Amino acid sequence: TRATIGVTGLATMGRNLARNIARHGHTVAVHNRTTSRMTSLVEQFGDEGDFVGAETIEDFVAAIQKPRAIIVMVKAGAPTDAVIDELVPLLDEGDIVVDAGNAYFADTRRREKALSDKGIHFVGMGVSGGEEGALNGPSIMVGGSDHAYERLAPVVESIAAQVDGTPCAAHLGPDAAGHFVKMVHNGIEYADMQLIAESFDLLRSVLGLEPAQIADVFREWNEGDLESFLIEMTADVLAHTDSSTGKPFVDVVGDAAEQKGTGRWTVQSALDLGVPVTGIAEATFARSLSGHTSQRAAVRETFADLAELDPATQRDVDRDAFVDDVRAALYASKIVAYAQGFDQLAAGSKEHGWDLDLGEVATIWRGGCIIRARFLDRIKEAYAAEPGLETLLTAPWFADAIGNGVQAWRRVVAVSAERGVPAPAFASSLAYFDGLRRDRLPAALIQALRDNFGAHTYTRTDREGTFHTDWAGDRAESSPA
Ligand code: 6PG
Repeated sequence: TRATIGVTGLATMGRNLARNIARHGHTVAVHNRTTSRMTSLVEQFGDEGDFVGAETIEDFVAAIQKPRAIIVMVKAGAPTDAVIDELVPLLDEGDIVVDAGNAYFADTRRREKALSDKGIHFVGMGVSGGEEGALNGPSIMVGGSDHAYERLAPVVESIAAQVDGTPCAAHLGPDAAGHFVKMVHNGIEYADMQLIAESFDLLRSVLGLEPAQIADVFREWNEGDLESFLIEMTADVLAHTDSSTGKPFVDVVGDAAEQKGTGRWTVQSALDLGVPVTGIAEATFARSLSGHTSQRAAVRETFADLAELDPATQRDVDRDAFVDDVRAALYASKIVAYAQGFDQLAAGSKEHGWDLDLGEVATIWRGGCIIRARFLDRIKEAYAAEPGLETLLTAPWFADAIGNGVQAWRRVVAVSAERGVPAPAFASSLAYFDGLRRDRLPAALIQALRDNFGAHTYTRTDREGTFHTDWAGDRAESSPA
């Protein structure tokens, strides 16, 4: 019993997490269902730190100091339940089981409840940063009891990415708080990537730039407010040439985007919470659309003649001006996506009693995770200045950025419509902004229609109460109790 912590599930993420833990001076017990993964980890990387290899789950559990802390890093869903079921009979009260996978937060709530009835602490821990992050410093979003976090903190905070001396790891709240935050992180990741993809498409389709030239544009953007891991990576990917064909790499990659489910969960949860995460939803649907290849072929064929749009309806576009417009549109749309994601965090927190500190979320997303960006500093500052902020859109920095960029944003959306270049995330983000800004929304007409066909009632702008008009009869207005 000398290990500080254990990791079971040694596929890439689990293996890298275990190595990261060992490299930070913690003794780590390692276990995998197929033993060869465990032995090869110890053989290859044993000199990086103190590993205790366990062939059986019993030996693994026995190797860990009490109260035990066990990280489970297996596929979300049934495989996670199977490992938990195997572990639980071997554990004692006060022990801690950590699910570090991308679990659906409702599963985490269920598991937490089931284990806490047995006196075992269950922690849903969101880990972002991919393989590289797991090894060299991820962002870690922890949900669970105070007891559990106290036990985990020395390990978790030492292996996390560090920004300005602050670890990108935090105890965000009870039960599924960490997994919920990780889910929304991934939703925002979808939106970020979709906005980047739309920017690329516009620069290419409207200006005729080659991927390598667009790489330069992204590299330049990465010097400014848009500076982020994904923008930098985009420049790198666009500059890459396929070795077998000599073509730009992006041109030989199949154009049907896949998804493991976190974006879809984010949108499903947002629907339940009633939070309009339009940017994330468009990004998720854009992936679905890309995958409908036979439908795409059918529509492409039917509308083949439409390929040439009427030049008379197209405005002239100046290269440098358009590049800068796209940059501004990207930034404004990104603000919308994050504003929506943070709204969802606030709503989820309220619904489930997590008491999330949104500034803290922004703080631990500044490093390690996939959406890490200079931008997150601004969000952190916004919540520090005003913890109860209604929406990020009104925080001074972001309000200025949108105010300065809104004309460019409109031009980009207009050009995308004129040229038939799909930019769903740009367009819907702009519509969201205009919707919130509007004095009177046509929702009034929707209320009137609902009352007409279904007696669903409406409120009035001029007096309190609930009203119904007798549409089929004399159109008298009544005030149903
Ligand atoms: C991260 C990533 C990580 C993973 C996603 C990708 O934060 O490190 O989000 O969790 O790359 O599962 O999800 P999709 O397969 O749905 O794109």
